[in-house]
Amino acid sequence: MERNDHIELALQILSEDAKLTESLLDTMYRDGTRCDSHLYESERYSLMAGGKRVRPALVLEFCRLFGGHIEDALPFAAAVELIHTSSLIHDDLPCMDDDDLRRGRPTNHKVYGEAVALLAGDGMIMDAFGVTVGNTRVSPETRAEAVRLLSLAAGSFGMVKGQIIDMYGETHALTEEELLTLHNNKTGALIRVSAQLGCLAAGYLTGTPEMAAAEGYANRIGLVFQMIDDILDVTSTPEAMGKSVGSDAAHNKNTFLSFHSIPETEAMADRLTHEAVALIRDYPGSDRLCALAAFLAVRKH
Ligand code: IPE
Ligand code: IPE
Ligand code: MG
Ligand code: MG
Ligand code: MG
Repeated sequence: MERNDHIELALQILSEDAKLTESLLDTMYRDGTRCDSHLYESERYSLMAGGKRVRPALVLEFCRLFGGHIEDALPFAAAVELIHTSSLIHDDLPCMDDDDLRRGRPTNHKVYGEAVALLAGDGMIMDAFGVTVGNTRVSPETRAEAVRLLSLAAGSFGMVKGQIIDMYGETHALTEEELLTLHNNKTGALIRVSAQLGCLAAGYLTGTPEMAAAEGYANRIGLVFQMIDDILDVTSTPEAMGKSVGSDAAHNKNTFLSFHSIPETEAMADRLTHEAVALIRDYPGSDRLCALAAFLAVRKH
């Protein structure tokens, strides 16, 4: 497949899968009373503002790859997007990256204030576990395993751990090994669990060769995702990204560019993408996830 065909297919997949996920997300956070409607409005504001929806697409596409029913994976797809969006609301707060633009809109706290932004993020994290365990289309064992994996990925042993290393790095020079730990957790953990949840929805539990292939793929594209994020923070514009750029330098962040030039980082991203693709290529129907990996390595937003 030519590179342009990959990109076209990936964009089509992202758009199809986003529609499915958004239709479920859209049913949440409505109908507040005069006392609490502010909370739901703030949650909807960030959640329904677009975003690439890469993580839900990974959930749905791994489920599809391994022969599952998309409906069985949808609640899991919504759950990872809820946790991801909450992490963005919190990441933008003044006490963290202090950014004022996200998904093409003023950040949540700029519109609703810090306290509501904090609570909206908190609420969405908890709600993600509710949606996961409420997925009665899959077995109780599968639901329990999904909750365990989601907790590991989102909490103190995953994304939150990555965020704290990221903050520590603002005042300390990290080693390259520490940077890899940072990125494997900050960005990698939610990407990895997306692939894992897709496998679970298709009936492949932890420890199966299918789950191992998905994890290997996701570990690699997770790193690539953050490599490109670091590059775009230097080379892109707020109009193209829908979020602030130059934020890493302004906060003295450790990024891949602290260790490597942009061409070196692009070459690493390319190598990791090839490795990711090699791990899943032999499964029939893998062209969709191969296209997604190829797109993420060259994305411009
Ligand atoms: C941004 O994630 C934060 C990182 C983990 C680098 P995305 O680039 O997936 O953001 P959205 O969901 O498209 O807004
Ligand atoms: C944030 O990483 C990752 C999480 C929200 C967990 P960044 O701080 O690099 O994300 P952007 O660049 O603000 O989207
Ligand atoms: Mg950050
Ligand atoms: Mg940030
Ligand atoms: Mg960034």
